[in-house]
Amino acid sequence: VSVGKFINKLPLPGEINNTSFELTASPADIELSDDITLAGFQFNGSVPGPTIRQTKGSEVDIQFNNGIGQDSIIHWHGLIVPPEMDGHPKDVIAIGSYDYRFSLNQRTGTYWYHPHPHRITGEQVYRGLAGFFIIEDEEEKALNLPRGKYELPLLIQDRKVNDNGQVVYDPSMPERMMTGFLGDTILVNGVPAPFHEVEAGTYRLRILNGSNARIYNLAFEHDLPFTVIGTDGGLLPEAIETDELLMAPGERADLLVDFSKVKNQNRVQLVSKPFDVPGGGGMMGGMQNMMGSDAPEQGGGFSLMEFRIDGASSSKSVDLPNKLSESTFPKEADANRSRPIRLAMEMMTGHTINGRQFEMERVDERVPQGDTEIWEFINNSNVPHPMHVHAVQFKVLDRSGARGLIPTETGWKDTVLVMPGETVRVIMKFDAEKGMYVFHCHNLEHEDNGMMANLEII
Ligand code: C2O
Ligand code: CU
Repeated sequence: VSVGKFINKLPLPGEINNTSFELTASPADIELSDDITLAGFQFNGSVPGPTIRQTKGSEVDIQFNNGIGQDSIIHWHGLIVPPEMDGHPKDVIAIGSYDYRFSLNQRTGTYWYHPHPHRITGEQVYRGLAGFFIIEDEEEKALNLPRGKYELPLLIQDRKVNDNGQVVYDPSMPERMMTGFLGDTILVNGVPAPFHEVEAGTYRLRILNGSNARIYNLAFEHDLPFTVIGTDGGLLPEAIETDELLMAPGERADLLVDFSKVKNQNRVQLVSKPFDVPGGGGMMGGMQNMMGSDAPEQGGGFSLMEFRIDGASSSKSVDLPNKLSESTFPKEADANRSRPIRLAMEMMTGHTINGRQFEMERVDERVPQGDTEIWEFINNSNVPHPMHVHAVQFKVLDRSGARGLIPTETGWKDTVLVMPGETVRVIMKFDAEKGMYVFHCHNLEHEDNGMMANLEII
């Protein structure tokens, strides 16, 4: 395990603000730190990819150039775009360009982009292809949330590093079939254990769990509390203060943290606190260690990065309104129907959704355009599944068992964690253009192993 020494400066990816641009994926040997190299892929010469920052309502025109020598296609995770713009795996290109053109007619928020080819999404994201896609507008700016250097996008990913300091992706059979691929080194914005210098004031952290399989239970040292203001689909109705937050692959969290509240210390680490994986997490972890992996097991604790606080300076504090944003969530009484979505894993069949593995041409669920549906994600397996639905934002209604809803689940979501044994009900209205989209587990080894299905809006 690479112990966090906090000797690397936190990199902040460059931004794209134009509405018309190219996104070029190419192979590269990348130095993540003095002793870690990645034979990987990059977007526009950068890992993570550039942060695309756009204004709500604008129309973007993006030329994706595929130079990585593998089939690929880009999905704009959380954006609601026409089916041919959504990065369905059937639209992969082997080489050349794919033109995307769509309007950003949805809530401001922290979205992201990554490849979506069938069976190799895990490898391509792991090897460097992921970036932020932020939508903002004047209304959100009027809240006077911290911005500029006080707004930090943080992409969290874990990687396995071999004795020669090379990042490797070599999931074993049990990793493909059960836990997913868990790394031993945690990267923030592409570097292991970085530090970042901050003032003693309030910062906005836009956090993306871009890991293939790892779930984090985010917290700060010294019991520093923080405020959750947003999640996958933008700002929450109301801010919620907490001291830990579970984040599964694909999920985003928009946080405010006030470093002036750290007393008698000038450093504070962002950590992942241990958490319970009900039914079998421990066994899976044990199995993983038997296989000789150094990686912390799913649910294990470790640190991610360090903030160094310059007590002399102080940025202004933030007055949050009681109501952060207006949300009219669909109501249970308005649902046209309820749809059970059974999640399972069996040795003979692999990962399945309602008993079937992904097939490119088969339509699995047909939803009439404009209908409101309740989907019940039923996890009958002994590993967690973060479920992601394309072309829609949903509201989590409830979760069976003791866990209840967490702060991010009071807002609009496109990815929700379903722990072993849980049933999670979400409600959503399908207003996207008619056509074919997918939904799937965002544990990328599970997705690549067939835990995906076609969703047609008819
Ligand atoms: Cu972020 Cu279908 O994926
Ligand atoms: Cu899964």
